[in-house]
Amino acid sequence: MLQSSILVLCLLTTSVFAKTFSLISPDNSTKVLVTYQDEALSYKIIKLGSTVIRNSKLGNVLNQVDLSKGLKLLSIERSSKDESWNTVWGEFKTIRDQHNRMLIKLAKDGYLVNVEFKAFNDGIAFRYDFPAQNKLKKFEIINEVSEFKFNKNDEVWWTPAFKDNRYEYLYNKNKVTEVDAIHTPATIEKVNGYTVAIHEARLLDYTSMALKNWGNGTLKADLYPWANSNIRVKGQTPLVSPWRTIQIVTNPAKLVESTMILNLNDPVDPNLDTSFAKTGKYIGIWWGMHLGLYTWGSGDKHGATTENTKMYIDFAAKHGIDGVLVEGWNIGWDGNWYENGDLFIFDQPYDTYDINYLAKYAESKGVTIVGHHETSASIKNYEAQLDRAYAFLNKHNIKAVKTGYVGTRLNKKEWHHGQFGVAHYTKAMKKGLESEVLMVVHEPIKQTGLRRTYPNLVSSEGVRGQEYNAWGAPGNTPEHTTIVPFTRSLAGPVDFTPGAMDTKFDNWRPNDRVPTTIAKQLALYVVIYSPWQMLCDLPENYEARPDAMEFLVNVPTDWDKTVGLNSKIGDYTTIARKDRNSDNWYVGSITDENGRVITIDLSFLDKGRKYKVKGYQDARGASWNLNPHAMEVYETEVIGGDSAFDLFLAPGGGVALEFIAL
Ligand code: NOJ
Ligand code: CA
Repeated sequence: MLQSSILVLCLLTTSVFAKTFSLISPDNSTKVLVTYQDEALSYKIIKLGSTVIRNSKLGNVLNQVDLSKGLKLLSIERSSKDESWNTVWGEFKTIRDQHNRMLIKLAKDGYLVNVEFKAFNDGIAFRYDFPAQNKLKKFEIINEVSEFKFNKNDEVWWTPAFKDNRYEYLYNKNKVTEVDAIHTPATIEKVNGYTVAIHEARLLDYTSMALKNWGNGTLKADLYPWANSNIRVKGQTPLVSPWRTIQIVTNPAKLVESTMILNLNDPVDPNLDTSFAKTGKYIGIWWGMHLGLYTWGSGDKHGATTENTKMYIDFAAKHGIDGVLVEGWNIGWDGNWYENGDLFIFDQPYDTYDINYLAKYAESKGVTIVGHHETSASIKNYEAQLDRAYAFLNKHNIKAVKTGYVGTRLNKKEWHHGQFGVAHYTKAMKKGLESEVLMVVHEPIKQTGLRRTYPNLVSSEGVRGQEYNAWGAPGNTPEHTTIVPFTRSLAGPVDFTPGAMDTKFDNWRPNDRVPTTIAKQLALYVVIYSPWQMLCDLPENYEARPDAMEFLVNVPTDWDKTVGLNSKIGDYTTIARKDRNSDNWYVGSITDENGRVITIDLSFLDKGRKYKVKGYQDARGASWNLNPHAMEVYETEVIGGDSAFDLFLAPGGGVALEFIAL
């Protein structure tokens, strides 16, 4: 009460025309104050009495009109919602969409624009709405002025935007005043203890948003432009922007429980038969290429031969693995493929790859081939073949495809993250949906929760994944995977491709290694969510580790719920998930280069219920650099609700646990 009277007083002293409207989350924890003053709009966010985002500008500059100033306030509409919905697959079976909403209608010289806010218990979202109107039909956005004003000493976990390697960078942590242009999700650790993640939801018909250091603690929207242009978005009314999302938690572990981004996407069409959208695991003729054991192109070391594929299918069938990815199966890989995507033909296999035989063989073994469409970022070549490419998959009963867009620009011109890219990825995703093909997209557009509407979009890369440990020079750091769940994973499932059993491939690449223990590789199946989870390594390396294989076969890919436990971004992370199809729970805990004992409480289990625990942990003396392969499997029993359970993690290590309900 005291606080709000002080606020009103300040506003009155600064301008008699200021009007402030507040929108509060259903649990009253999170509040956005939107101020209309000097014919412009701004917002500020308060969590439990503390300022999380200082008063920040809103608006857009169009080629046609500057809609960031000179605005007239027309009206305000409010509504509320409290509904639960079921996911097709994911980290949660049921999600509650509970929020309060405010739509602010504005006008300038006959142009109309609205700003819509939603307040959830886990954060605030806003978007711009350019409604159908007489004066504005086609338009171009040249600047979004939205700001996110932090304090100068707040620190952000970030990767650089507007760079040639797209989304594939290691994370850094700096003061918000020290970065340049950064990707979202960007996760800010505030000096007042709150953790805030900025991202976007429902990116369609638009460009993606990066954030630019605007000085003094301010991060400002920095939209990806069209090539050689200052135009960010080419639009036509009616058009809504993606939601700008601000997830706010008091404990970083709780970020992984946030469902706001999915709640801001459209429900799946209730008439769509989604039974094809299954989760699963896959192995691939893949790691061998990255190690140099096989080639994508033809020749003595060609990986995608009929015989080799058959061997992988046999391995998958033996262990109940759902799919076999085959890269290098089609014409186009010979020569400089990453420079020349125009050579790829998506329905023409090499002679040495008998798809007719393999399709039948895989089917007889209950395994699906996972197709591969590397485009080398030649959108024109891929789109010209899209119908044929997906007809080929359907003809051979190939239920999933991995797509790839290696290259610094699409068509050697446009940013992957610009509006051109958004349009292409959307088109391909819709083609996949219509063809009932599951998609795993590499070098993707960032995920924004579209998987809710398009459940065929099972996973994507958009991260510095496992492959960098084969040739990254340098590879990833031991702390990398402790950051991913609180940054990249907030956007959606990650095809990180865990599961290295041989971390030191001396015969192939003696100077490279996977900087983890085996137990940590197992823990990643729980920690970094993907509904299609790869077993990245070679079949013989799995056959050599029956102890690890037992966990890899058992660990689910579809969850009933997810709980974030003890975590410190960049140091250690513990996540618990309940299987969607049983009462069993799984826990993954990973650490950076430092070993530690992490004590968790078991309040996530059913209180009073007995569970058999199987732990796959680093053996004493294990470490990522000196003794990575030493793992021990132990069994014990616990009672749900027990207060203290110790997890042992070696330097660069982890632990994976199964809690089997008795
Ligand atoms: C980059 C992808 O990330 C990788 O998984 C794939 O093997 C190569 N491109 C070739 O398509
Ligand atoms: Ca990649």
